[in-house]
Amino acid sequence: MSNTRAAITGIAGFLPEKVLTNQDLEKIVDTTDEWITTRTGIKERRILKDGLGPSDMAAPAIEALLEKTQTTKDEVDLILFATVTPDLVFPATANITADKVGIKNAFGFDINAACSGFMYALNTGAKYIETGNCKKVIVAGFDKMSSIIDYQDRATCVIFGDGGGAVMLEPSTEGNGIIDAVLKSDGAGRHHLHQKAGGSVKPPTEATVAAREHFVYQEGQPVFKSAVNNMADVSRRIMERNALSPADISYLIPHQANLRIIDATRRAMNLPEEKVTINIERYGNTTNGTIPLCLMEWEKEFKKGDNIVLAAFGGGFTWGSILLKWAY
Ligand code: UT7
Repeated sequence: MSNTRAAITGIAGFLPEKVLTNQDLEKIVDTTDEWITTRTGIKERRILKDGLGPSDMAAPAIEALLEKTQTTKDEVDLILFATVTPDLVFPATANITADKVGIKNAFGFDINAACSGFMYALNTGAKYIETGNCKKVIVAGFDKMSSIIDYQDRATCVIFGDGGGAVMLEPSTEGNGIIDAVLKSDGAGRHHLHQKAGGSVKPPTEATVAAREHFVYQEGQPVFKSAVNNMADVSRRIMERNALSPADISYLIPHQANLRIIDATRRAMNLPEEKVTINIERYGNTTNGTIPLCLMEWEKEFKKGDNIVLAAFGGGFTWGSILLKWAY
């Protein structure tokens, strides 16, 4: 086994300017700021303009990432794009983004693992680096959730928002980088969280549009219970398997779906509140965007060699945990 690991060497994100507050939502559906805040922890979220897609958020973020990591466009080998709201059904948003940035020497593809997609993509990118197949891999996680949210359904529309971020992965022989990953999926959970129409089984028709089947369908309670149990389980597992005590972990970076799920994961890992990154109050659940946006906002706090645990749960069901050592 080579001792080369894939290290994150830079991060950049994008947040649309338009803010949708709980007070705005009070005027659209039968809800209150008090309910949303106590049940989810969210105060506001960002909304991307009509006519734009994840590639329009990713392109400026990737340009900033190239600048920050002093990488030329020709040096990029691979772009992995985690999203559930691709610009188009095909081709991949990875390819559309590469074209918008002017990256010509890379290959790329999309990864759809709902809210765990960024972690799946990060682990996939790490394998291309560890094997020596690639030297510079961009892993992007962006979603325009507002494009598939039913703003008549108060139980889901209050949760989601738009945004995301991208990281650069490069080889490191210093012992830093992605150390371990526990990734899981269970298709039986799909019934609780999915989009009913728009795929090949039920292509768009006037009837599917009238039945509002192109929006996110979520049964909150079963998803909540599975998220709490499974995020806690994989996060404890990654600690055990790497012989890490709570004191050894500098930060937990959880998917931002619900403050109560984040808190349950933190307690299962026996971590103090200050070791957990939380920005759900400002952005809500941006699906593939939550973990990179946390990485972006806490980047300045991280120190070389810090043990950082990522954890997520989402549609599929998919879930998992990644342990990495910060490299800069
Ligand atoms: O990232 C992808 C994975 N997704 C998740 O992790 C989401 C997991 N689920 C959740 O976060 C929570 O289940 C929700 C936030 C979606 C819902 O919270 P909850 O505490 O599970 O509420 P509930 O669905 O059990 O509903 C409780 C009550 C219901 O009223 P009744 O039947 O008790 O009269 C709902 O109709 O709250 C009502 N309700 C609302 N009331 C005001 C649901 N949404 C709202 C709302 N405002 N926005």
